[in-house]
Amino acid sequence: MNLILMGLPGAGKGTQAERIEDTYPIAHISTGDMFRAAMAAGTALGKEAKGFIDKGQLVPDSVTNGIVKERLAESDTDAGYMLDGFPRTIQQAEALETITADLKKPLDAVINIDVAPAKLVDRLSGRFICKTCGATYHKIYNPPKVAGTCDRCGGHEFFQREDDKPATVKNRLKVNIEMNTPLLDFYKKKGLLHTVNGDQDIDKVFADIKAILATVAK
Ligand code: AP5
Repeated sequence: MNLILMGLPGAGKGTQAERIEDTYPIAHISTGDMFRAAMAAGTALGKEAKGFIDKGQLVPDSVTNGIVKERLAESDTDAGYMLDGFPRTIQQAEALETITADLKKPLDAVINIDVAPAKLVDRLSGRFICKTCGATYHKIYNPPKVAGTCDRCGGHEFFQREDDKPATVKNRLKVNIEMNTPLLDFYKKKGLLHTVNGDQDIDKVFADIKAILATVAK
């Protein structure tokens, strides 16, 4: 299965990607995670990306397309992949068509997690993440079962993302809302688009995604 998970910042892409990768043997490719890892390692890519991410802007297509192309060429994607946060522009979507055609790894489905923008500031400002395994929580909507302990790996250290600060969140949402409709239309025309209601309990969203995946699984 080769998938794209789409949704505005805070819609629940990362949260659902964790569940999907724990259930299906497909590689999870998050461009946001790749940029944050490069920033933490202080690489040239990380330094370039930081300038954009800290302002809530998109990293230029030329840079982002390049890292996705390299990542999709790796062998762990042969059994399937799930792109999370890519593509975000029509130019990226067109580049992805070429990359997947060249690699003979065509897309099977695009899953759009739909949440009204008004709900998203609250979701992003309450988010915290496990330092060890990257599992995502929310202080009100999705706390760990045992306070201070990660459900997934038992870790005890958590952090908040720099770009979840209110000023950056506002700009991230603005930029992504502008790009969202043309991208959804792009995949609707190709007959690949499936939309789930992301404004419901996390397990219910996952149940809806599994029902879609049952229809596309090879
Ligand atoms: P990225 O890391 O991809 O961030 P994003 O798209 O802004 O998405 P988020 O990770 O913020 O949200 P999410 O949808 O994963 O939500 P989550 O599951 O955490 O990108 C970061 C930056 O990198 C970008 O701004 C850009 O600069 C750059 N970048 C990345 N990709 C790029 C690209 N292709 N091109 C150019 N630049 C790129 O959930 C959010 C919160 O809500 C959590 O606290 C969670 O617990 C909670 N929650 C989840 N589901 C529910 C639910 N159903 N009900 C209640 N709460 C819920």
